[in-house]
Amino acid sequence: MDIETILADVAAAVEPHRGAGKVASYIPALAEVDPRKFGIAIVDGQGKCHGAGDCDEPFSIQSISKVFTFGLALERVGPALWKRVGREPSGSPFNSIVQLERESGVPRNPLINPGAMVVTDQLIGDGAADAFIDDLLALLREEAQDDGIFIDSRVALSESETGSRNRSLAWFMKAFGRLDNDVETVLSAYFRHCALAMSCRQLARAALFLAFDGRDPVTGRRVVASRRCRRINAMMMLCGHYDNSGEFAFRIGLPGKSGVGGGILAIAPGKGSIAVWSPGLNSAGTSQVGALALEKLVERTGWSVFG
Ligand code: DON
Repeated sequence: MDIETILADVAAAVEPHRGAGKVASYIPALAEVDPRKFGIAIVDGQGKCHGAGDCDEPFSIQSISKVFTFGLALERVGPALWKRVGREPSGSPFNSIVQLERESGVPRNPLINPGAMVVTDQLIGDGAADAFIDDLLALLREEAQDDGIFIDSRVALSESETGSRNRSLAWFMKAFGRLDNDVETVLSAYFRHCALAMSCRQLARAALFLAFDGRDPVTGRRVVASRRCRRINAMMMLCGHYDNSGEFAFRIGLPGKSGVGGGILAIAPGKGSIAVWSPGLNSAGTSQVGALALEKLVERTGWSVFG
């Protein structure tokens, strides 16, 4: 199977759909992005990267960052993390508040906004938010083998200035005693990790360990324990697209994580890591053309974990 040909076919198949969906506008800086952008990259077990379209252009990874923060927290804290956050799909939007009230401020899973805030609070611990952000950036740069990865502070500021909804979620959890650090400390770090700017190539490379049992297959470095890697992938499959996770599993059949910047990270265990980017979103905040591209890719490669 020739991946380059498959990628060219996928790019051709989505071409008539480019620009479909709605670019996120609740974070004003994201609304400025050209909706016709499309990029895709696949990194295989040898570390070889295959790309098409705008695969070298950095975009805002937004909620895809939650996969890395969750992985980092699970590795650092172990099962104690589950005392603070659940591991069930929410069936609700990423910024829903109703479930939080019913469940005493304990978020359903680490991939919805309040769950990711609890994870961020855990990772800050007794230290400084800046130190956690430095650690995260170092991890991503090392895994992607690329020091060009950065945090777009303009996007972080833009989200903070309009972040009433996330502030509500954080204060709500604070009222239930679920956050140890100050709300603004947690949010400052949360907005920054969401504002990570990465290209499809960088993102696919940084997440390669998730396709190979938690170990980077090229450098041999173990990033997370094998059993934790399985759990991260399970969480992505069941919760990675919020109330659209069933649809994503049905159509694509790979652990995946969306971001409102229009990126999707998908993991094909034992095969490789895939990142796709196209800014127009469906109503659950998943890239519309990105999901279509992944559907076409899986049809051609047979990489669905369901056979
Ligand atoms: O907190 C937010 O609303 C954004 N920083 C991230 C949301 C997001 O990416 C949802 N995923 N599709």
